[in-house]
Amino acid sequence: MGKKRILTGYRPTGRLTLGHWFGNLMNMRELQEEYEAYYFVADWHALTSDWQDTSAIRRYTEEMVLDWIAAGIDPAKATIYRQSDVPEVAELTMYLSMVTPMAWLERVPSYKEQREQITEKDLGNLGFFIYPLMQAADITIVKGDIVPVGEDQLPHLELTREVVRRFNNAYGDLLPEPDAVIAKQGARVPGTDGRKMSKSYGNAIYLSETAEETAKKVMSMMTDPARKRKDDPGDPDICPLHEIHKLVGDPDVIAEFDSCCRAGSCGCVMHKRKLVEDLNGYLAEFRARRAELAADPSAAWKVLEEGAQRVRPAVEELMGEVRRSMHVDAG
Ligand code: TRP
Repeated sequence: MGKKRILTGYRPTGRLTLGHWFGNLMNMRELQEEYEAYYFVADWHALTSDWQDTSAIRRYTEEMVLDWIAAGIDPAKATIYRQSDVPEVAELTMYLSMVTPMAWLERVPSYKEQREQITEKDLGNLGFFIYPLMQAADITIVKGDIVPVGEDQLPHLELTREVVRRFNNAYGDLLPEPDAVIAKQGARVPGTDGRKMSKSYGNAIYLSETAEETAKKVMSMMTDPARKRKDDPGDPDICPLHEIHKLVGDPDVIAEFDSCCRAGSCGCVMHKRKLVEDLNGYLAEFRARRAELAADPSAAWKVLEEGAQRVRPAVEELMGEVRRSMHVDAG
């Protein structure tokens, strides 16, 4: 038996942050060793919500690929491709739509929530409605066995499994039912204001920003709000500075900051300076590799082109079977 296939995709909606690094990238890097890995940029999925302004999607696609590779996702191990380079995904979405009751899509929780909560974008389009169905096509088109996802994506995986069962019932046992694995809970990384790190909160540290930009953000980070003066005792357990430092620093140094913070015998500014040093040190190799890659403007596109070629045989084989079983092949 060959290795199991793992597949995951991300929408190109911005540069990757330190939150992605500990939340996803480290996982992807580990999984590529164990599985036959397919990592793709879900640019069509980005269109579904950002159809009114699509101007950044290409740039974000490129940035995401550079971030992935500089972080150690290895194109020689994982197949890295762009969703829109596999147009059969659209064809398969259309076939899957035949067996999918509209009510199944209407009750997907992320759909309901986002329609209610996101008011600055018009999400009344059909493309956004079929988002989870296109995701089902992404997964089944390469016969993905395992999909590592965050908890929020579980309903999409459940929908995929239901659609697959209905499809197989109607047309024969063709598509595998994928299993979700909850991504090994990567560390939750706080942003500079203590909330979850997110580009939409404006509190993110980007992997590819400069050391100076990182320094500026860290120096203005929030710490324990009860520490007004530097001899006020603080609580490192509620301090985002400590939380990030634990991910990138030397445990002995962190333990020292922990105790002097509690005792009120060292100041936050000093701790910030140390975090700047450690965080920039931690990211230095990534940043150097990324700069090196970015020096060739076609680097990301070459990887995507090669990836698109590499998924092709699996895609063609599956689509041949699907068309045959639905009687839309040449006969
Ligand atoms: N829905 C995923 C997200 O928002 C992106 C995605 C699209 C995906 N297709 C996928 C993830 C297929 C896993 C498998 O993050």
